[in-house]
Amino acid sequence: MAAGIDDIAIYIPRLYVDAADFAENRGLDPVKLQKGLGVSQMAIVDANQDPACLAANACLRIMQKNNLSPDDIGRLYISTESAFDESKAMNSYVIGMLEQVYGQGSFEHCGGVETKFACVSGSYALYDNTNWIRAGEAEGKHALVVVSDIAKYDMGSSGEMTQGAGAVVMLLNDKPRLLAFDPKVTATSIKDEYDFYRPFGKETPIVHGQYSNLLYMIQVRKALESYKKKVVSSGLIKMEQGETILDHMDYINMHLPYSNMGKKALAYLVRHEWRQLPRWKKILDEIGMKEPIPKDPRGTIESVLGDEEFMAKDHEFTKLFTKTQEYQEVYESKLSSSLIASTMIGNLYTASLYLGFRSSLEFEYQKGVDLEGKRIGFGSYGSGSSAMVFSGVVQPSYKEIVRDMNLESEIGSRKRLTWGEYEELHENKLSPEESIVHSNKEFILVHIDTKKESRGERRYVYNE
Ligand code: HMG
Repeated sequence: MAAGIDDIAIYIPRLYVDAADFAENRGLDPVKLQKGLGVSQMAIVDANQDPACLAANACLRIMQKNNLSPDDIGRLYISTESAFDESKAMNSYVIGMLEQVYGQGSFEHCGGVETKFACVSGSYALYDNTNWIRAGEAEGKHALVVVSDIAKYDMGSSGEMTQGAGAVVMLLNDKPRLLAFDPKVTATSIKDEYDFYRPFGKETPIVHGQYSNLLYMIQVRKALESYKKKVVSSGLIKMEQGETILDHMDYINMHLPYSNMGKKALAYLVRHEWRQLPRWKKILDEIGMKEPIPKDPRGTIESVLGDEEFMAKDHEFTKLFTKTQEYQEVYESKLSSSLIASTMIGNLYTASLYLGFRSSLEFEYQKGVDLEGKRIGFGSYGSGSSAMVFSGVVQPSYKEIVRDMNLESEIGSRKRLTWGEYEELHENKLSPEESIVHSNKEFILVHIDTKKESRGERRYVYNE
């Protein structure tokens, strides 16, 4: 049975910090953000928003657009790493909000949980719900998988320039108009790591930035190796001599903590795949330098990062490699369109990969590319750490969805924050009623209880 993504909707908060303002106030070169990281704007939540509001707003959009009633939905999953309760799942808050519009008890039949594994949990939720449909358990109903997060780092930390916020919701069913997932090829890797984590009670993560960059690439590569074995043994793809698995993916969507991480990760994967092939010799000739090897090739991530000579040479080699015509072709045709939204919005943790997927569809369609039958590969990564590689094929009816995609109108008009406003929001100095913008036809947070017996209870309203 086919199963996959029928439609996709986004909700992005209307406030943003501009990279130029950020650089000026943090004493940084603006080129580092814009060119070095690929960050132009970072979406920031208002004082009356939390990740549950973002998720509920995205769900309402997809339900209204497709004229769905709660009876059409069999499961609602939320994947997030911005949870504000250790026990009550975020989907219960979202259902509470949706029932303000659709009627009390209207989602009573609908199952679901909140899932957590840093940025990769949305991919696990998609996989589980796809298998619920494949198993014939859906009884004609759809699943909603929502990925919603607020990427917030400590003031003055190096992660602060990679913030963002937003939610993406995917409607899954057995006749998907957009993308059918390839069966029996989903591959994972997992390792106990401390590259990025957020201990209980701490609002912002503890991050080892450069370590996390390298670990991301290593883990995705491991998952790709396992994906390769599965596609070959399942007969999904026949690999000819001199080919790599990446040749069989028309598009590659990577997890995007900032848009240039997608570029870096693609370069890493392509380089490792091509190294075994006859084409590598020509590329080395073009680069004009030997591929560097660390002093201890079997060493740890720390030993590689500590090998300054290797790191400098590898940086130089990677720069030259990404300038080769062969790499440029792969980058332009398979990845570049997925990065556009990330540049405008920033890191959405769990939602970043799927915002990239949405971006790729819209901007490739605008180029006039016929997407029917194209295979899309996904490289999902979550710190802590786990990676997942899987793929799907664009369906014949994709145009019904993609022709109406318009990132700018879906984001809506945005307000550029002053530095003072940004600092107040970051330090949680504003109460919900002091929100900076007043939006209507949206769910907003109005109150968080502080009384001993009801501490933490949240109240939301739908602003008509
Ligand atoms: P940093 O260490 O300050 O930056 O912070 P850098 O020195 O690595 O510079 C970044 C890039 O800008 C480099 O390019 C520089 O060369 C360039 P690259 O070598 O990568 O090609 N650059 C400049 N370019 C032009 N003009 C200049 C200039 N200066 C430098 N003047 C870092 C970067 C990402 C480490 C930091 O922002 C951070 O810690 N961010 C948070 C962690 C993160 O995003 N990690 C990504 C991988 S882990 C992941 O994706 C999981 C995550 O989403 C969480 C989850 O799973 O839950 C984070």
